[in-house]
Amino acid sequence: MMSQFPVKKKKQQQRLRLPGPPAPLAHPVRFPKVVLCLVEKRMGATRKAFLTTLARQRGFCVEDANSDRVTHVVSEGNSGDEVVEWLLKNGSRGIDVLGGCPALLNTSWFTESMSAGRPAEIEPRHRLQVAAHAETLEARCQVPVYACQRRTLLAHRNQTLTEVLQTMAEEAHFCGSEARSLAFSRAASVLKSLPWTVRRVQELRSLPCLGEHSRRIIQEVLEDGASAEVERVKHSERYQAMKVFTKIFGVGVKTASRWYQEGLRTLADLQAHRAKLSKEQEFGLLHYDDLNTPVERSDAEAISQVVRDAVGQCLPGASVTLAGGFRRGKQTGHDVDLLLTHPTEGQEVGLLKKVISWLDKQGFLLYHSSRRNTFQAFEDPELWSRSSASGMDHFERCLSIFRLRLPGGVQISAGAQKPGGAVTGSGVSSFWKAVRVDLVVTPFSQFPFALLGWTGSKNFERDLRRYSKHEKKMALNNHVLYHLEQKIFLTAASEEEIFQHLDLEYIPPEERNS
Ligand code: UTP
Ligand code: MN
Repeated sequence: MMSQFPVKKKKQQQRLRLPGPPAPLAHPVRFPKVVLCLVEKRMGATRKAFLTTLARQRGFCVEDANSDRVTHVVSEGNSGDEVVEWLLKNGSRGIDVLGGCPALLNTSWFTESMSAGRPAEIEPRHRLQVAAHAETLEARCQVPVYACQRRTLLAHRNQTLTEVLQTMAEEAHFCGSEARSLAFSRAASVLKSLPWTVRRVQELRSLPCLGEHSRRIIQEVLEDGASAEVERVKHSERYQAMKVFTKIFGVGVKTASRWYQEGLRTLADLQAHRAKLSKEQEFGLLHYDDLNTPVERSDAEAISQVVRDAVGQCLPGASVTLAGGFRRGKQTGHDVDLLLTHPTEGQEVGLLKKVISWLDKQGFLLYHSSRRNTFQAFEDPELWSRSSASGMDHFERCLSIFRLRLPGGVQISAGAQKPGGAVTGSGVSSFWKAVRVDLVVTPFSQFPFALLGWTGSKNFERDLRRYSKHEKKMALNNHVLYHLEQKIFLTAASEEEIFQHLDLEYIPPEERNS
């Protein structure tokens, strides 16, 4: 069957016949749902180029192993295990061997498809056998211990498992058990980075950060579809009340716990105890529904633009950078994190006050509270290096609630009394919504550190600091990188340079969703 195509032995002949591959877009794609990847191992580069051209001429899409779009992997002379290994080595991040995604095929499928001029139906005889299934993958896929050494995309293959582990992490956090919470978060983070969907608990054998408790819960979910313990947590009165309370802007676990102990359970209970609220919390309660409605990317961009306008008015040349989850590629978030700086260090002093005043005058701010810069790096580096684990920084900063105008009076269910307007309930038209916005001002020389720190994810940041300290004897925070033994500051003009100082491979923001 393959005789119509030259095989590797006929290299000489092939070279004569091949004028070189045409531009990839020279042929229209006829089968957009089928994306081929040709395994170069054993096939060789020349023959791969030839088959690629052929497939493209017939309207097939062909991409590299690292493309997330690949649906059909075609190999010649390799075992299924070899193909899996080759794919992983060549940057493939999404292989679900047991789920057959992408399909691992021998060339008979390719030949038949080319002859037919369309993708052939996949039959068992086309498929490559993968001997040890996911366990082979697991053994070959060395998952690094630190999240900052892993590439973690937003979309991953173990959503159900990570959700239950995150519920457990949240519950532990509500109980003040930070170590237990961290253990569950780390377990979830490792699962997010796996290039396959876990289907059996044995596949977790060699993975780091998966403690006994996490494994037990994963096993329950895999075998029974749910974990009794997680279900109990989710339905417990305390977990539910804590969740409602901690979703109020300005309310942490301590306050929420105290309210629970005092017998409060719902927002209505709180309303009756108004006296107990700080100013921040009062605004949090007032705008509860808006602030717990996901912020859309378009909202974040609109707000960035407003702040850019304000900054442009107050200090020409200053920049505004959207950080946080949106920089990692998320489509929604719980707030908008914006970093302000100016290329001439020192110019940023006094900027925030002016920006806030401008925004306030234009009616953009429902609430704001500012904190001045308290960073004193060069006075005592040892002092802050000890406290760098917390992730808190010392930049001048404004916590605010923005009044975001909605285009054309979109219907939203605000359910809160909006100051200066009518009481809005479910379905009542409203022309604006409340959005949490953090404005952070950084001196230019600290900007790369601030950007790295404010891009997250939290797991990624925590592990960056832990890695720096334990593996490199350096203290990293949102301001500086300090070598604890050489007692020097390591400067950086970009995030890339910080990764270089730490001997880490650069991980772009979209792959920091650990
Ligand atoms: P967020 O809490 O906003 O998280 O902090 P996020 O990833 O953007 O998530 P959503 O989408 O809003 O829900 C953003 C990053 O800023 C860091 C956090 O550690 C996180 O990585 N951060 C936050 C600080 O470094 N310091 C702070 O004081 C607050
Ligand atoms: Mn955020």
